[in-house]
Amino acid sequence: MPDTSQDNPRRAAITGVATYVPDRIVTNAELARTLDTSDDWIVTRTGIRERRRGGPGETTSTMGAEAVRRLMAAKGLAPDQVDVLIVATVTPDMFFPATACLIQDQVGLQSTWGFDLSAACSGFLYALTTGAQFVASGVHRRVIVVGADLMSAIIDPLDRTTAVLFGDGAGAVLLEPAEPGFGILDFLHRVDGSGRNDLFMPAGGSLKPPSVETVVAREHFLKQNGRTVFKFAVSQMAESVERLIDRNGLKASDLAVVIPHQANQRILDATADRLGLAHDRMASVIGRYGNTTAATLPLALDDLVRAGKLERGDLAVFVAVGAGFTVGATLMRWG
Ligand code: ACO
Repeated sequence: MPDTSQDNPRRAAITGVATYVPDRIVTNAELARTLDTSDDWIVTRTGIRERRRGGPGETTSTMGAEAVRRLMAAKGLAPDQVDVLIVATVTPDMFFPATACLIQDQVGLQSTWGFDLSAACSGFLYALTTGAQFVASGVHRRVIVVGADLMSAIIDPLDRTTAVLFGDGAGAVLLEPAEPGFGILDFLHRVDGSGRNDLFMPAGGSLKPPSVETVVAREHFLKQNGRTVFKFAVSQMAESVERLIDRNGLKASDLAVVIPHQANQRILDATADRLGLAHDRMASVIGRYGNTTAATLPLALDDLVRAGKLERGDLAVFVAVGAGFTVGATLMRWG
């Protein structure tokens, strides 16, 4: 694990955020019309009230492209001013070409290179860390990091244990050189492949190429061992935040906010309890969007910024646990 805690004179900061979610809202009541579930079960067990679903023609790249367009408009960036585009997703439009290429083409970016990155719900954080290195090294000045997932493409509409959890959405942030003392201060990541069978899509890759049998067996949909993922997420989210702030000489009470991956409100509340934080110090948008995988963190950040809840100088930690398992936490000073 890299120790990035030493003082690094050149850092990257998030200098802008923008998001896109499809217009179509799917409520719990609507799901309960076709699934053996209820609004009460979903709200009590997950905190989710509604989620968005892409319409005809909407894909991960079209959602990501719209988030990038909004970000560039907000920052006044010209098409030739973005150096790198990194896209975190587990629902690329296709295996290849990379979603980054599709977004570059749709937005008309003129001098960009880029690539996709797969780390499920930790994907945005892994992409953020990767992009930050280009800025910190001085190689590039402007990096756009996108987290986008059209989860409706890989969710089994007949499986009540997963169909109620996930939604579609996209977010994008701009990374630029930080002012001294501001920006991304430290990160901590880990992968643990022992979780490979607890959250996965069995078929479609080189292990099980698509066939009539895999389609009939519904193996092109996400499968999850919910209880195991839940326990892993609760322990790892809190532990990752603690380790990260501890090695930076901070306490949880020093943080203005924790911005966690949005998988289940109970995971957020349990993490807050373990950290000794009030529940409202954990940013939460899960009620409106469900779990949008790589998009949850920029959606939650955008919500905080719009609500004026992040002020210059505030310390904040992003934290995520995802399929793999993948784990990530990032410490930043906003401004
Ligand atoms: N409606 C009604 N009943 C349901 C539903 C539903 N939608 N889903 C499951 N149930 C039933 C189960 O069948 C079970 O019934 P049984 O007792 O008769 O067998 C009962 O509810 C309890 O099931 P549990 O799985 O024990 O329910 P739990 O309280 O653990 O909640 C949940 C399930 C919401 C999936 C939870 O385990 C969870 O959030 N897990 C973590 C998910 C997560 O964090 N994913 C993150 C990563 S995502 C990524 O990386 C792409």
